Amino acid sequence: MNDKRVHGKSAIQPKPLNGTGVTGKGMHGNGIHHVNVNGSLYPAKVKSRRQMWDVQPSEMANNTLNPIRAIVDGMKLTPNPDKPMIALSIGDPTVFGNLPTDDAVLQAMKDAIDSQKFNGYAPSVGYLQSRQAVANFYSCPEAPLQAEDVILTSGCSQAIELVINVFCNPGDNILVPCPGFSLYKTLAVSMGIKVKLYNLLPEKSWEIDLQHMESLIDERTSCLIVTNPSNPCGSVFKKEHLQKILKVASKHCVPILADEIYSDMVFPGCNSSSLASLSSDVPILSCGGLAKRWLVPGWRMGWILIHDRNNIFGSEIRQGLVKLSQRILGACTVVQGALESILNNTPERFYRDTISFLQSNSEICFNELSTVPGLNPVMPSGAMYLMVGIEMERFPDFKDDVDFTERLVTEQSVFCLPASAFEYPNFFRIVVTVPEEMMVEACIRIREFCQPVMRRSWDQCD
Ligand SMILES: Cc1ncc(COP(=O)(O)O)c(C=O)c1O
Repeated sequence: MNDKRVHGKSAIQPKPLNGTGVTGKGMHGNGIHHVNVNGSLYPAKVKSRRQMWDVQPSEMANNTLNPIRAIVDGMKLTPNPDKPMIALSIGDPTVFGNLPTDDAVLQAMKDAIDSQKFNGYAPSVGYLQSRQAVANFYSCPEAPLQAEDVILTSGCSQAIELVINVFCNPGDNILVPCPGFSLYKTLAVSMGIKVKLYNLLPEKSWEIDLQHMESLIDERTSCLIVTNPSNPCGSVFKKEHLQKILKVASKHCVPILADEIYSDMVFPGCNSSSLASLSSDVPILSCGGLAKRWLVPGWRMGWILIHDRNNIFGSEIRQGLVKLSQRILGACTVVQGALESILNNTPERFYRDTISFLQSNSEICFNELSTVPGLNPVMPSGAMYLMVGIEMERFPDFKDDVDFTERLVTEQSVFCLPASAFEYPNFFRIVVTVPEEMMVEACIRIREFCQPVMRRSWDQCD
């Protein structure tokens, strides 16, 4: 017998009233016995709807899948006991302690707490003053912003969720980069929205295959997602490429979700623009936040910048975003209280130093792995990642990138994320925020792992 069964009674039957407050019984006009409780009539016996407990997760819960977890949880990650583990897989710049945020950022937060002004609820879209601060920070003549054009959210992740929600109905589709950040698909699929993956081209520094992207658009395409700079590629699109993307969106009247969480995290010499600053007619919702550039992902502060063009969004999309923001009351108020000071007082030197560290680590990694036969790293231009192609035919003892990265852990205690997690097999992603000595050591070990002589001798030991 199912032990969830509650002895023949429905779990939702009312508790016996034990006489207290029950003042009488009677027959109502519909023939059902009623009891009078404190002057109100209630059915004497509620018709049972369920005979057994049956509590199941919702369809949305069942359809929520994080591909990174699905792949990593299925891997056998047993490091070589003789070598300390080096994880190049975690997209959190704070894990090794080598990239602290700036003192000005910390001070802003301490001041916000000490002021006791930010302990209550804020408006669901954020305090006006904090929204104004974000607007001022990102406003430029080509893409001006006012406080009303900013919605504060719980991390960039919530910003992305709100934007997908405001643009799409179940059955619609969105265009998503491949390889790309997995959250887009995780969110969309759970909402019944279809995902169409458009290709990025490693041989063209991960530019979009525009023809492929355009071929995917149909009458139910409600949003184009562009990630620039990119996770997982570390690529930064040139102005001309961004203009071509806008041209396709304009031709087919598809609004854009610009994921610009890595905006301004661009190596010197690589020009970058925000999509909105180049758009004359395509309406754009740009998603960003404090997580990466200010190195505080745990503070969960994100935003949506509304760049309407020709009043295409109008009040409806704005109202839609406001309504959706009311589902949860947005971003942490203490961080909102610190936001103006964070944006205005963080010294340029902090941003420069972070970028210079990321560039230096990327160069170490790229230069080292470029000389390893069978590996094809692609030099990034920004963000915190570097993708490495694996010529699988040179490694016949490995099935795929998952097998390759699993064995890299077993033999060398170096963990890189297989790019199958980004729907892009035969590559792996390296996070370049680790301390320099770890990056150097990891590259030496990856070389050792890939050397055919080393491989054969290891296989003989198996
Ligand atoms: C491309 C991209 N977008 C959005 C996010 C989410 O940012 P947040 O931590 O602010 O939610 C990340 C985090 O890694 C990311 O890589």
